Amino acid sequence: TKIAILISGRGSNMIALAKAIAAPDFPAEVVGVLADKKDAAGLAIASDMNIATTSFERSDFTSKAEHEAAIHDQLVQWNADIICLAGFMRLLSANFIDKWTNKIINIHPSLLPKYKGLNTHQRAIEAGDSEHGCTVHYVTAGMDEGPVIAQAKVPVLSDDTEASLTARVLEQEHQLYAKALRDVLERQKP
Ligand code: GRF
Repeated sequence: TKIAILISGRGSNMIALAKAIAAPDFPAEVVGVLADKKDAAGLAIASDMNIATTSFERSDFTSKAEHEAAIHDQLVQWNADIICLAGFMRLLSANFIDKWTNKIINIHPSLLPKYKGLNTHQRAIEAGDSEHGCTVHYVTAGMDEGPVIAQAKVPVLSDDTEASLTARVLEQEHQLYAKALRDVLERQKP
């Protein structure tokens, strides 16, 4: 199964996922890492891992539709079967998603359906939550919606700062994504 990973930034989830997929018993391969930012730090790291990389900046296209068409064409060229969003900070249109039904998955740093969107860790602290975590889910047209594939929980400690909680969740994210992808591949077996 061919996996493409979409990023916008440092790509720590992409790196963890690519490393897990590189294990000999993992039934998939990473065919490319695509960013919506030319200077996304994760691109250089993917390149060092001998993974094909490319970037498509929104500002180089006249419309969202044309930007997405370029991304779509690249994914088709890579023969991608599954698209993993890993810190890809752009909302994909229904038109794009409809071409990849049940093929796009995302990781989000909260226990969805709680805290869609940004600043999830700060919101969990402010709400006084005793638990927080991360979710891997199928991507549908709504932001951070779509069926949950897997979640990992962490405790929120009384002395947590946004930074300490972010780090605790990120550690779980790095393990959860590969585990969830395995589940997806298992479910999609003919
Ligand atoms: C992660 O927390 C991910 O869950 C969120 O954005 C962050 C990306 O971090 N969607 P990285 O680029 O994977 O390091």
